Amino acid sequence: MKDIYSAVKVTDNVYWVGAIDWTIRDFHGYTTPHGSTYNAYLVMADDITLIDTVKAPFMGEMLARIRSVVEPSKIKYIVSNHSEMDHSGCLPEVIDFIKPQKVFASATGVKTLKELFHDQHEITPVKDGETLNLGNMELTFMETRMIHWPDSMFTYLAKDELLFSQDAFGMHLATLERFADEIPAATLEYEGATYYANIVLPYSAIVLKALEKVAASGIKIKIIAPDHGPIWRKDLGWIIDLYKKWASQKPTAKAVVVYATMWHSTGKMARAISEALAQAGVKVKLLSMNETHRSEVVYEVLDAGALIAGSPTLNNNILPQMADVMTYLKGLKPVNKIGAAFGSYGWSGESVKHLEAMLKEMKVDIVSESIAVKNAPGDDVLKKCHELGKIIATELLKRTTAH
Ligand code: FEO
Repeated sequence: MKDIYSAVKVTDNVYWVGAIDWTIRDFHGYTTPHGSTYNAYLVMADDITLIDTVKAPFMGEMLARIRSVVEPSKIKYIVSNHSEMDHSGCLPEVIDFIKPQKVFASATGVKTLKELFHDQHEITPVKDGETLNLGNMELTFMETRMIHWPDSMFTYLAKDELLFSQDAFGMHLATLERFADEIPAATLEYEGATYYANIVLPYSAIVLKALEKVAASGIKIKIIAPDHGPIWRKDLGWIIDLYKKWASQKPTAKAVVVYATMWHSTGKMARAISEALAQAGVKVKLLSMNETHRSEVVYEVLDAGALIAGSPTLNNNILPQMADVMTYLKGLKPVNKIGAAFGSYGWSGESVKHLEAMLKEMKVDIVSESIAVKNAPGDDVLKKCHELGKIIATELLKRTTAH
């Protein structure tokens, strides 16, 4: 493996020694059609340090990349910025193999690693702002609790003005290009936003505070090295501004109409609502859950100002595809949306009531009466759906232009 896998030089002192997962397609419910990478970094200081490790099956690939620079046994320290198994899965085995002098994590990281592995490895807790002297350079630890786990922290290498940012600024994208400036901006924006929406979104308020805290600290950052996807070494303001935009969730004149249908009745209603929205000048994403993955819906909801949900009634409830996406969306806590519910039914007709309750639980402001139709919509009901779309569009344009 040593001659196949090599490290990638990031600076004179830092190498990427991670692994590329070309085939992963599911990340706890988030679909990853373009794979991912698990990034680990080698700091070639006097005291050689490994920042993070990789998912368990990729340990050999990481060790081979390390060996292309230095014998792994020369590593003195390991830093675990984040305990989630995609970055710590092989940590116990790596500790046994490398036998570093010390392994560091945040205090919560130490507890989490113990609870995950139930082993006897000693991990040393570090505090926010604490430094680690590596001889000719030093690392500074910065706690970033709940971005996106309680244990999460960043590690800063002042000598290279380099921030090891664990999951933040990452994306699930398997490539042989290691740097963001080697990848088209549209790909970076799409993959970065999808990652943000599916992983980081619930912690947006904390992200905004963390960005302010880093800016206020006055530390200079020339490189951001995340734990997934490419490394940022040019035009960092671009991705930082995108993070500010995604975290602030300012609504735009865009509506997501998400629905599932049995015999096309709810589908016809969705079309009528969407046509009215578009005719009023609102950008519309019409997403049928019979064909769409929940991850794509969350990506579209990220910058939308309206969320309109539709389902027929099945066994006194909503269709399972809608239960799936609504549960997923609720957990990700999007904010600043208006909306309504719609759907068809055969006899009992509870789906619209359920959907409206779910939207309210998500703090979606219901600005139009919801519409339920028995069996199939005729022209009269489709006209009502068109009206619903107009009402939402009027309110959305009022709110987004007032901002
Ligand atoms: Fe990439 Fe939260 O693990």
